[in-house]
This record gives sequence, C-alpha cells and structure tokens, in this order.
Amino acid sequence: MSNSQVQIFDTTLRDGEQVPGCKLNTEQKLIIAKQLDNLGVDIIEAGFPVSSPGDFKSVEAISKIVKNATVCGLTRSVKNDIKVAAEALKYAKKPRIHTGIGTSDSHIKFKFNSTQEDIIERAVAAVTYAKSFVEDVEFYAEDAGRTDNAYLARVCEAVIKAGATVLNIPDTTGYCLPHEYGAKIKYLKENVKGIDKAILSCHCHNDLGLATANSIEGVINGARQIECTINGIGERAGNTALEEVVMILKQHPYLNLDTNIETSMLYGISQLVSDSMGIYTQPNKAIVGANAFAHSSGIHQDGMIKNRGTYEIINPKDVGVTESAIVLTARSGRAALAYRAKNVGYELTKLQLDDVYTNFLSFADKKKEINDNDIHQIIETSNIYKEIV
Ligand code: KIV
Ligand code: ZN
Repeated sequence: MSNSQVQIFDTTLRDGEQVPGCKLNTEQKLIIAKQLDNLGVDIIEAGFPVSSPGDFKSVEAISKIVKNATVCGLTRSVKNDIKVAAEALKYAKKPRIHTGIGTSDSHIKFKFNSTQEDIIERAVAAVTYAKSFVEDVEFYAEDAGRTDNAYLARVCEAVIKAGATVLNIPDTTGYCLPHEYGAKIKYLKENVKGIDKAILSCHCHNDLGLATANSIEGVINGARQIECTINGIGERAGNTALEEVVMILKQHPYLNLDTNIETSMLYGISQLVSDSMGIYTQPNKAIVGANAFAHSSGIHQDGMIKNRGTYEIINPKDVGVTESAIVLTARSGRAALAYRAKNVGYELTKLQLDDVYTNFLSFADKKKEINDNDIHQIIETSNIYKEIV
C-alpha cells in the first residue's frame, strides 16, 4: 500500500445499523454489502457476530459473497466473542477480527471497575487469542478520544507486540476538537514503539458535528484508515460520513491522500441505504442531500448559468447526481426563469421575459416551488403568449 493511500473501513452494517429502528435483515445486508464491495471500500464491518444469531448469519453470508474487500466482525475483549466472530468469518477471502476494550478513566472505572494494568492485560489477551484464528486483527481502544495519550501509547505498544495489524483510535463520544484529535494521532505516531508495523485508524462520532473534520485531521497527521458509514448514520448523532471524507480527499489533491472509492456510485448507494433503513437523509446533507446541487437564489442562479464553478466545487456527475438543479422560487431572477423556460421549449426575448417574469412572481409568491408544468401555465397566461407561440 502506498503511503498516500487511505483505507476506507465501512461500518454501515455494524455501527450504522445500531441506529434505533434501522435494523436490516440478512437479504438487505447482502445487497448493501455487494454495493459497498463494488464501491471500492477496503473493509466492510459486517456486524457483531456474538450479538445475535441473526447477526452471526449475516456476517457469515456476507463473508461468502464479498469478492474484494476485507470482511470484519466486531468483538469485545471476550474469548467467546472472538471465537464466534472467527467462526462467522471463516468463509471470508480476507477476514479481520476487530476486538478491543475501553481505555479512558471513565470506562476503566465505571464500565470495568478495573485498573489500567488489568485493561492492558485483557487487551493483549484478546489480540493474542484473535491472532490464533486470523492474521488480520484490529484493536479498538474505546473512548480513546478521552484517554490520556501516554497511557493510550502504552496500550497501543502492547497490542502491536501481541500482533495487532490496525489500531483503531475511536473518539467514541465525539468529544475531541479537530486539532486535539490530530495531535493524538501524531503523538501515537511519534511515541509508540513498533508503530510502523500497524495502521492507525480514525473512528469518529458526530456528537458535536466534528466527525468528518476529526477524521481528516487524523489522516493529515498520519492515520491511514477512516471508519465511516454511508450518510453518516450511526449511534446517537452518527459516525463520519463516508461520502464526505472521500470527496474531501478527492477535492483537495494537494493533501496527497487517495482512496479506492468509485465516487460516481456515492449518490446511488446513499439512496439504497436510506431506503433500506427507512432513514431519511436531510436535504442539506453534504454530497448526497437533495439540495446538495440545487441553486435557488437569483444571485447564485445567475452565476451558475454563466459558469458552474461560481457556486459548485464538485461536479455532480462525480458523485452520481445527473445534473445541478436551478430551482424556481419567488427568490429566483430572470436568468433562472429564462434558463428553465428554454429547457421546456420557450426561447424568450428580453421583452417577453420581462412580461413573463411579472406573471411568474405572482405565481411563485403563492407556491413554494415552480415546476415545469407551472412554467407552461405561466407562459400561457402571460400577456405576450400569442407573440411567443
Ligand atoms: O465508537 C466506538 O468506540 C466503537 C468501537 C466499538 C469501535 O464503535
Ligand atoms: Zn463507533
């Protein structure tokens, strides 16, 4: 793997599926897993096999059909979890066990009633046991975002020695600021012995709306894997959105960080996940929201019609959206009306446009949005209709 390559670890089917009311059946998961594989994700976290017989069955079925990506199963640092995950992954071409434990003071005290030393022992035991089944073992230090960096470095060093191939540094509660998360990754890169043997991974939650920014800071500071979900779905406020980090890296080539994602599939897979889970995507969602390429104010529309680059930094086709939309509302100007009228067959002169525009405004004040049928009606009821036809 070249040093500019960022691995995309998709957890839509595990962290994403933890959203209340979004449970998928095995058939739906298989359809999504196939599309994720076609999209070019490097790792598919297919589920948490010990959590239920249904999840075990899904991870096993996904393992059988995925052609290119690594298939990963989540476990706690518990022997039986690991054994069950290994069993569910046994048909995968490239299996990965993702095991881990909480490392922040809060987790150590309240979840485990334990000590820092005992947590390191459990982490090492889990990784060692997972290694007896598969070569590729990822370790997560849950709540790493709130874990003291010096202790986190000790945990990382110990699990690398035990054979961990990937170190996941989750900001489980979405608490870190981007510069803090970036500094944490940098600290680990500089202070963990043996760090060159493992890949650092960003797993950021969106409680303060910073998941994407934190993941990007993570890779700028040396991480080479991002854990993310389609549409940013996931626990509470969600995870890092796959489409956002992928497009940020694509649109900022000077960062010299690439992914294997076929970006023209992003819009389609966003719709697939949203429809399968019954979870609506907010219209202003970056990259895949209904309004991401829609322009409605007169000033913006005028610029867009003259040159798309005035108000768009991404070509909609690059993410699978057919074209930008010039939305007609009472805030639209003459340029937008002329453009949309031309699209439905009317080439208006300046004088004709003045007349039709007056009629348009009285229509638009009564309606939220003017569609193609309305444009015909506006032109047919304008004073100069006879001149136009
Ligand atoms: O947010 C988190 O810490 C997780 C781990 C289980 C990887 O999802
Ligand atoms: Zn998570």
